[in-house]
Amino acid sequence: MTVELATQYLGLELEHPLVASASPLSKTLDGVRRLEDGGASAVVLFSLFEEQLRHESAALNHLTQVGTESFGEALSYFPAVEEYRVGPDAYLELVRRAREAVAVPVIASLNGVTPSGWTEYARSMEEAGASALELNIFHIPSDPAETGRDVERRYEEVVRKVRGVTSIPVAVKLPPYFSSPGEMAHRIAQAGGDGLVLFNRFYQPDFDLEALEVRPDLELSTAVEIRLPLLWIALLRERLGETALAASTGVEGGREAAKYILAGADVVMTTSALLRHGPEHLRTIRRELAEWMAGRGYSSVSEMRGVLRREGAPNPGAFERANYIRALESYRNPFTER
Ligand SMILES: Cc1cc2nc3c(=O)[nH]c(=O)nc-3n(C[C@H](O)[C@H](O)[C@H](O)COP(=O)(O)O)c2cc1C
Repeated sequence: MTVELATQYLGLELEHPLVASASPLSKTLDGVRRLEDGGASAVVLFSLFEEQLRHESAALNHLTQVGTESFGEALSYFPAVEEYRVGPDAYLELVRRAREAVAVPVIASLNGVTPSGWTEYARSMEEAGASALELNIFHIPSDPAETGRDVERRYEEVVRKVRGVTSIPVAVKLPPYFSSPGEMAHRIAQAGGDGLVLFNRFYQPDFDLEALEVRPDLELSTAVEIRLPLLWIALLRERLGETALAASTGVEGGREAAKYILAGADVVMTTSALLRHGPEHLRTIRRELAEWMAGRGYSSVSEMRGVLRREGAPNPGAFERANYIRALESYRNPFTER
């Protein structure tokens, strides 16, 4: 049985739903080519960060105001520019060249948290040829005086700013940590987000017990981590109407991809699995997805999409609190039996 994997995301026609999410694998033209060769239906470039853009404009100001005392102080606030391997100009050049070099859509990525001038770069990314833009808003509200509503408004304003300067589709990559992720998703859509990428993985530093230091660290994901995005995609799919949904986190193989599509995802993104096994692992995920679909008698992605969203699932109660209690009550292992 042949299965039809073609899908749409942000108005883009894709050969199948497996997209390479933002990662160091898309930092070079060669890397983007390898992701296409490996089987990605679209490639999200690694992010250009607000801090880089602000650093650049601070440096420009310096050229016009040499001797300004505050300059040194201002720069010390930003990470050293050498920490970024690619500056804004090189990023735009990468977008341009990638657009020419590969047939799959290239999605540029902007990463920032303040609704200020850096958002203008969205227009430059469009002009450089990006098919769409992914906006990763990743704010750690470390000031306890900042209210939940303040945080939500910040997200909305960043989306509005970006929406205001570009006409290509904009997907917003969100963390899951809102009091009401569903309402937040709606507000982002109302602010002009054409799609949501659920979720970005929150940065969580570790402690080094030998050096007694805080260690910035990044662990790759595993398949068990799909459950949080899976829950929210299933809960939101029907209610978000036309807003596109991309699943991000924990896609190790075809089974996770199948689950996300059953929840209602338009596309399924992966990074950790590709960093572990190489870009060609995309083909394995694709084959496993197609085999699973054929085994279940699904002939197309659109036929299976959303079958287990809340409104379609045979047991919608499984998404609710009653089932949480049941899950806790039914847990058994040898220690609980004593
Ligand atoms: C080393 C590394 C670098 C990443 N860089 C970016 C980035 O520049 N921008 C971004 O939006 N996400 C970035 N991510 C997050 C991934 O795009 C993805 O959302 C996350 O890893 C969860 O997906 P996964 O479980 O398939 O890895 C990065 C992840 C890793 C592991």
